[in-house]
Amino acid sequence: MLEIVALPSVAIATYINRFFTGKEPWQISAITSISILTGYYVWNVLSQPDDLFEIAKKNFFQILRKIPFVSKKINEECQKVYELFEKEVKGRCEGLTYITSLPIEPLNSDEIINLVKNHTLRGKYRWNEGFVSGTVYYYDPDLVNLTAEVYRLTLYSNPIHSDVFPGICKMEAEIIRIVADLFHGSDDTCGSVTSGGTESILMACKAYRDYGIHVRGIKNPEIVAPRTVHAAFDKASSYFGIRMKHVTVDDDSKCVNVKSMERAISKNTVMLVCSAPNFPYGTMDDIKQIAKLGLKYNIPVHVDCCLGSFILAFMVQVGYEVEPFDFAVPGVTSISVDTHKYGFAPKGSSVILYSESKYRHHQYYASLSWPGGLYGSPSVSGSRSGGAIATCWATLMYFGKNGYANVTRKILEVCKHIEKELRKINEIFIFGKPVSTVIAIGSKSFHIYRLAQALNKKSWNLNMLQFPFGIHICITQLHTLPGVADRFLNDVRIEIENIMQNPNENLEGQVAMYGMSSTLPDRTLVGDFTKCYLDAHYYTPKGNI
Ligand SMILES: *Cc1c(COP(=O)(O)O)cnc(C)c1O
Ligand SMILES: *[C@@H]1O[C@H](CO)[C@@H](O)[C@H](O)[C@H]1NC(C)=O
Ligand SMILES: *[C@@H]1O[C@H](CO)[C@@H](O)[C@H](O)[C@H]1NC(C)=O
Repeated sequence: MLEIVALPSVAIATYINRFFTGKEPWQISAITSISILTGYYVWNVLSQPDDLFEIAKKNFFQILRKIPFVSKKINEECQKVYELFEKEVKGRCEGLTYITSLPIEPLNSDEIINLVKNHTLRGKYRWNEGFVSGTVYYYDPDLVNLTAEVYRLTLYSNPIHSDVFPGICKMEAEIIRIVADLFHGSDDTCGSVTSGGTESILMACKAYRDYGIHVRGIKNPEIVAPRTVHAAFDKASSYFGIRMKHVTVDDDSKCVNVKSMERAISKNTVMLVCSAPNFPYGTMDDIKQIAKLGLKYNIPVHVDCCLGSFILAFMVQVGYEVEPFDFAVPGVTSISVDTHKYGFAPKGSSVILYSESKYRHHQYYASLSWPGGLYGSPSVSGSRSGGAIATCWATLMYFGKNGYANVTRKILEVCKHIEKELRKINEIFIFGKPVSTVIAIGSKSFHIYRLAQALNKKSWNLNMLQFPFGIHICITQLHTLPGVADRFLNDVRIEIENIMQNPNENLEGQVAMYGMSSTLPDRTLVGDFTKCYLDAHYYTPKGNI
């Protein structure tokens, strides 16, 4: 809202009176309103969490969309895109009956189990044979049986009722201590178990926003983060109204430019972020230097080790050289670690760690005047799955230090082998220096998406990158199964040879659409398409209600 500001200075009042002398009342009121509105608009623009060029572009496209012809055209395109996605989603579940209202009579257990099996045996990718990048980080029937039994014992528990389920709270506290120990924490290190990497990151951003506002007196909080950090930081920026300032990464190393990072710091910076490693390229930022900036300017530093997870923590122990990335580096104040990635726990668990409890206090939420009672909760969720905590805890016990060290050794061996062999292929290059399990590939000889497409036809499922175009594979325990790595390398070699017979051929089908979307200047349009894509996943046949 606008506030009427009293102008105490006589000089200003005289100036204003002189300015308005001889003007008609309507002119005075028009000038006043226009000035206030202009001022308000400028203030609004300047305080938005985006940079000015982006805002100008957004406004331009927003105006363009108001033209009836354009908006009609866009709606038609969106409808087409939606239909394409819907067709694909329907295709994936072909043959399955859609259940759109409750069965009148209960189904028996056998029927239910059969239906569940019908639903799980879907999808054309044989993830359990190592055809998929990332996604499932460890799969072994032994561990499945154990965690299923643990889940059976704990599935109704909920740590929000700590008096009813005290043991679950103890398990959560122990997970935090165990992970703190792996990441060179101290007795002061503390944290929370969350539902996943995104929630861990959201909590860190929320904690530092509130710490910035309440302790450091910051009015317009900003995050300074490399361009390559996980989208969860942008999500946090959007959810919590924190401005995101992205910093460019060096073209060759794909690590953040520390000098640019220092320049991006302002009095509004509530946190600095770095990745160990980042998702797109698997490269690690210079955490020592960034932590130094944190100390120099007295700003908290978050290390996103969601993807690095336990693999990074165990690499040194099994003989790899890794630059320090955890609480051993002075200035690092928090780390996010996904136990549901390379901790090999079932999906639904991650850990956020802080160097001091003052940060965790700003993560917490407390409602003091709710008629339902005093309400405090540590993270985004209210009720939480005690089963997710217990299965995570059980997985840590199942592996132990030696178990994790052994798996780390095996996975890294495969990573180094694949990287070494890929580097021998002249038509492609590796982005930067992969620090752990992600290897990103680009090409100057052909459109790299064509390789993704060709491999896809051979059942491989890789990740596609943009700005610039690239693809990556994230190596998991499933790629350590006999023959998988060499099958991958062979398929890559054969398909590149095929592509090089016609290196300039265009992309086709969905890959072409994905490639095209990166070149559209109107990013809100791409946003609309993305929303259509999400919509399509909620498909059920219409007309039954
Ligand atoms: C996976 C990942 C996250 C968090 O992802 P979730 O899917 O929410 O667990 C964060 N950062 C990086 C680098 C990641 O790879
Ligand atoms: C489940 O799958 C089986 C065989 O794959 C099939 O016979 C059956 O009709 C399916 N049931 C439903 C409800 O789709
Ligand atoms: C780790 O590997 C070594 C060598 O292969 C083996 O002797 C040991 O039993 C393994 N330990 C675990 C916990 O997997």
